[in-house]
Amino acid sequence: MCGIFGYIGFREAAPLLIDGLRRLEYRGYDSAGLAVHNGGLEVHKCIGRVDELAAIVPSNMSGMTGIAHTRWATHGKVTDANAHPHTSEDGSVAIVHNGIIENSRALRNWLMAEGVLLRSDTDSEVIAHLVQRARADGLSPVDSVRRALSHTRGTWGLCAVFSDEDIIICASNGSALVVGIGDGETYVASDQQSLTAHTKRVIILNDGDIAELTAGDVQTGRLDGGVSGAQITTIDESWGEAELGDYPHYMLKEIHEQPEALRQCISGRTVLADGNAKLGGLDLTPQELQAIPHVRLIGCGTALHACQVGRLAIERLARVPALAHVASEFRSNDPVIDPAALHFAVSQSGETADTLSAVKEIQLKNARVMGVINVVGSSIARQCGQGVYIHSGPEQAVASTKAFSNMVAALTLFALQIGRARSLTREPGVKLVKALEALPDQIEDYLANQGPLSEAVEAVQDAKIVLFLGRGPSAPVAREGALKLMEVAYIPCLAYPAGEMKHGPIALLEEGSPVVVIAPNDKFKQKTVSNIQECRARGAKIILIHEEGDDISEEADISISVGSTDPMLSPLLTVIPLQLLAYQTGLAKGCDVDKPRNLAKSVTVE
Ligand code: F6R
Repeated sequence: MCGIFGYIGFREAAPLLIDGLRRLEYRGYDSAGLAVHNGGLEVHKCIGRVDELAAIVPSNMSGMTGIAHTRWATHGKVTDANAHPHTSEDGSVAIVHNGIIENSRALRNWLMAEGVLLRSDTDSEVIAHLVQRARADGLSPVDSVRRALSHTRGTWGLCAVFSDEDIIICASNGSALVVGIGDGETYVASDQQSLTAHTKRVIILNDGDIAELTAGDVQTGRLDGGVSGAQITTIDESWGEAELGDYPHYMLKEIHEQPEALRQCISGRTVLADGNAKLGGLDLTPQELQAIPHVRLIGCGTALHACQVGRLAIERLARVPALAHVASEFRSNDPVIDPAALHFAVSQSGETADTLSAVKEIQLKNARVMGVINVVGSSIARQCGQGVYIHSGPEQAVASTKAFSNMVAALTLFALQIGRARSLTREPGVKLVKALEALPDQIEDYLANQGPLSEAVEAVQDAKIVLFLGRGPSAPVAREGALKLMEVAYIPCLAYPAGEMKHGPIALLEEGSPVVVIAPNDKFKQKTVSNIQECRARGAKIILIHEEGDDISEEADISISVGSTDPMLSPLLTVIPLQLLAYQTGLAKGCDVDKPRNLAKSVTVE
């Protein structure tokens, strides 16, 4: 989603801004722009990719202070005029903004009544005009931003530059901004990953903070004039490279990184001798684990599917009721929260606005919520204050792959830990730990021998619709496979628990309809076989994901086998061919697999 990068220092800003935007490209966007202070303010912006912006920025553009933005349209179409930065009428103020100004309609009407000419359809533009009016009343840059934001309602990660002062003013409220501290240089960005090439010393702004950046200094404060608690911290080293290396696409790289990512996630967290797991970040005693009446897991998209697997693991191993919730529905339904219950907010980016708002709702109602997060220091991780980092390494492709596996692994470790604190005996615990530790090698084995994926690609690539079916832990895997194929190859997909298929989706089946069935060798398999037969009787073509050596393969038109594991862990193997199916089908259809249309990596609006 929208990205911000800013620089003030002693080097030419424009190339640094373009490079910063390139590092934010993975978030998904539709237009890009920058503003540089060079006596006045020089602004360039356009729809399309950062490369297209780079092509219109003059190579000799000078100026050592600037702000830049990648926009993912919310208010107003994808046009040059709606791209950021937005400027005041007289060109003396330029702003970039992430988030949503909820009262922008009223502010636009008021500004127009005052005779101000609005040049875009965005909610953000009003801020530039409000700041400029405050400047005209004699306020300093920081106080003019303060006054402008006192009129707005909503969320912002905001940066402003001025034609008459060499300074960047930043403010954050519900949309992350991180200030990077260099040597005589200061940076600001919407995620810390884009800063690591320059500095590891950062200040993460809190909601309600405002900051004045100059080349050698950062002054932080509160919007209401108080003192900010924001501190300088050092970005933790995480494993893995954010660069593409020898892979043609990030999605393929990240699929292939899953064995190593999984090792990073479980390393030091399993206790084989006790058949237990130890998630230090949760800081829960066995007594506390025994007292939890139920567990709720909250996430969006792929993270939600990981929650759906996780909830089954928790119920199975700990015999504690567990539910998975769509984050975007959570707060608005005014949920009944039991303060004794445990909640998990699951997110790769740690910036997803829907999940963040669910966290705040739970905290408001006085209950505990733990993060299950990939990006260290992200907004949700900080808001939760406690939890588990999943250690997937940087995930750059918009379609999430390796984060799914590590979310499932982290939640399974929790299920084991709470299970052992309650009724789960040592022996099944030991078996599960052994199975978990064997998984990275098993994923490697599958990646080395992927089966007839190209036949599966052929079967789905021109389909009107693809149906995905699975039971038990394979039902969320079916949903994840459908989501991947839909977002990467733009094929309509429907995922159903296999037994539910006969209650409706069966009406879609005709001769040759592709149906992807996930059927590992678990207690659900026989019933899934019946559903496969119901599909075949109506002419469907079955693409079957199953365990090696299982004679269920006879039920398949296209049979893809993965290794054999504990039934609770099968999602970690069966999801891999589905990720590859989506990737290869996307490629076959000429899609931009790493940046599917309309999608964003960090969804920072509700
Ligand atoms: C799917 C995908 C999205 C994300 C969702 C949540 O491939 O990437 O559905 O899973 O937007 O994102 P996070 O995990 O960052 O909260």
